[in-house]
Amino acid sequence: MKGVILAGGLGTRLYPLTRATNKHLLPVGTEPMIYHAIRQLTGAGMGEILVVTSTAHMGDVVRCLGSGKEFGCSLSYKVQEEALGIAHALALTEDFVRGDPVCVILGDNIFEYSIRPYADAFLRQGRGAHVLLKEVGDPERYGVAALDEHQVIEIEEKPSSPKSPYAVVGLYFFDDQVFDIIRGIEPSARGEYEITAVNNAYIGRGQLGYSICKGRWTDAGTFESLFEASRILLENGNRILEHP
Ligand code: G1P
Repeated sequence: MKGVILAGGLGTRLYPLTRATNKHLLPVGTEPMIYHAIRQLTGAGMGEILVVTSTAHMGDVVRCLGSGKEFGCSLSYKVQEEALGIAHALALTEDFVRGDPVCVILGDNIFEYSIRPYADAFLRQGRGAHVLLKEVGDPERYGVAALDEHQVIEIEEKPSSPKSPYAVVGLYFFDDQVFDIIRGIEPSARGEYEITAVNNAYIGRGQLGYSICKGRWTDAGTFESLFEASRILLENGNRILEHP
């Protein structure tokens, strides 16, 4: 399975911390935020990882991460010239992924536990896509999954009246249908190609599996969540926990 880290975006909610650098290079625990995504992907067995970031910050990101040798992986890079959404960024990775299954992690998502069991669950599932859900107190900030007894029946992006407390976290597994699916979606009201539209297309095909995220999780896109991200890592000695 290939790994993709999406590290674009403008980081406007963290201004002025993001005035001169990319959000994903800000400190979380003792390291730049993006190290966590790399450590999660390599820890789940991925050796080939593509990092997507904006033109403005590509130089800094490459200077920070290099070839990947230090992390025991091979890193490639792709520029996203316009901030047109997560699915748009993912579309740029098609040549790199080349028909393999792919794990996509948003570079500002921090997980207390290893993502390896979720990767294994997706590989057992075989076909389709697999998302990770987390019960949260403020679901309206996220993609929100409506569930029946067996499966996810719908995902809504930042709904004003969430149908459940289950946020769809920024870790997704897709099979090789994903690029054709992206070609078929339209931009949302906020002008972005939404990953939620991609996941809903998999629901329409009856091929979206899910796991429940264990332990603490946060994105680090606001001052409060950036602080929480550091707390999660520092309280565990800056280590990712393994599942018992
Ligand atoms: C994105 C996704 C959203 C997901 C969230 C997780 O939101 O669109 O579905 O729940 O990441 O971090 P964004 O951070 O781009 O607002």
